[in-house]
Amino acid sequence: MKLLVIGSGGREHAMAWKLAQSPRVTRMWCSPGNAGIGLERLAANGREVECVKIGAEDLPGLLRFAREQQPDLTVVGPDNPLALGVVDLFQREGFRIWGPNQSAARFESSKAFAQQFMERHGIPTARSEVFDDPVAASRFAATLGGRCAVKADGLALGKGVLLCRDMAQADAAIEEMLVKGTFGTAGSRVIIQELLGGMEISLHAICDGQRALLFPTSQDHKRARDGDLGPNTGGMGAYSPTPFLTELELERVRREVFEPWLRGCREEGIDYRGILYPGLMLTATGPRVLEFNARFGDPETEVYLPRMENDLVEVLEASVDGRLDQLDLRWSPLDCVGVVMASQGYPGQYPKGKPITGLEEAGQMDRVKVFHAGTGRAGDQLVTQGGRVLVVTAWGRGLEAARATAYEAVSRIRFDGAQFRRDIAAKALG
Ligand code: AMP
Ligand code: GLY
Repeated sequence: MKLLVIGSGGREHAMAWKLAQSPRVTRMWCSPGNAGIGLERLAANGREVECVKIGAEDLPGLLRFAREQQPDLTVVGPDNPLALGVVDLFQREGFRIWGPNQSAARFESSKAFAQQFMERHGIPTARSEVFDDPVAASRFAATLGGRCAVKADGLALGKGVLLCRDMAQADAAIEEMLVKGTFGTAGSRVIIQELLGGMEISLHAICDGQRALLFPTSQDHKRARDGDLGPNTGGMGAYSPTPFLTELELERVRREVFEPWLRGCREEGIDYRGILYPGLMLTATGPRVLEFNARFGDPETEVYLPRMENDLVEVLEASVDGRLDQLDLRWSPLDCVGVVMASQGYPGQYPKGKPITGLEEAGQMDRVKVFHAGTGRAGDQLVTQGGRVLVVTAWGRGLEAARATAYEAVSRIRFDGAQFRRDIAAKALG
């Protein structure tokens, strides 16, 4: 079968790598892809994965390509095309596509929608309210003593969340979003949330419109620097599973989060087929949902897919077709750790075009896979092209072994100004 994968990051590299292992896939395109994705070969026939220069948000371009090449399945990686309605568009044209439709993707594209849905259906979350008036927003922030998260309603590329510890910070954040409009239309409505304390973890479930099959647990590291210091980023590294949520607690989350969520979707006529990825805070009074994402996490995907023993094509097809009741997800007992190597200055301004060396030495290691996130080519040379450049992933018996292997691989890779955290998965090792 022929597959089209939409996206260009480390998540899409991990998806393309895993999909390429399926004996059923005979041709694969990735739009736009990256330098690492273009190096993958299909297990079925050795054919290379073809990167095509169409942006993930260029819906007319993607549709034109699908009409020409007739992929049997299109797989959407990032949130933006979902929010723009790529799934609805492809379906109207008779193409099979995996991912939530535009209405279902609102769980991520509108934080106000997600928040109000959780309240309607009794899903444990932070106390919060939605505002478009700065005075009312400030009044609510004051009832929280200024300790709050101020969030832009729409998609703001992971940057639309300001954490405040007092009223001065809260008023500055409200002013930033509602008065100055720093986040554009995404920030013309804000959600103000009580600030929650605790350990943050990631969950994923694959959904088929009726059911949600939970993945094992994982944990991302959102801050730029060791010890969870520095600015928030897209994620600097992840590992799976995490010891911070026991099987028993996971069962509780299934009951308190996923069951009411599924019931709510049924009642409101939301046909959710894709990944639901809630960010969860483990508070003193139990797990609470901080946000929902409507796609695979990045870098969580890079540590989930090496552990997945199913053929990913089968999993995605069962999700599209509403057949997840016939599928058992199977996971390797090995632990997996992924360390992000980023450009100097990320998540702020960063240079591009820095030559990358040592990828072959790292790639030759056993139980290691280097996923490319922001890479490109300058002639024959692999160069940096994004903020997050690589996700160096390793697996092994026990977290400690997986972690040691990942860092050994990192030490073999070099590019000018490379920054990475040295403490990925360290919390879990105590
Ligand atoms: P979000 O995009 O909503 O996940 O927010 C980005 C990050 O801000 C999260 O990963 C958390 O680390 C933090 N955060 C968001 N909401 C809250 C909250 N209510 N309390 C504490 N931290 C939060
Ligand atoms: N792991 C962060 C994200 O995918 O949003």
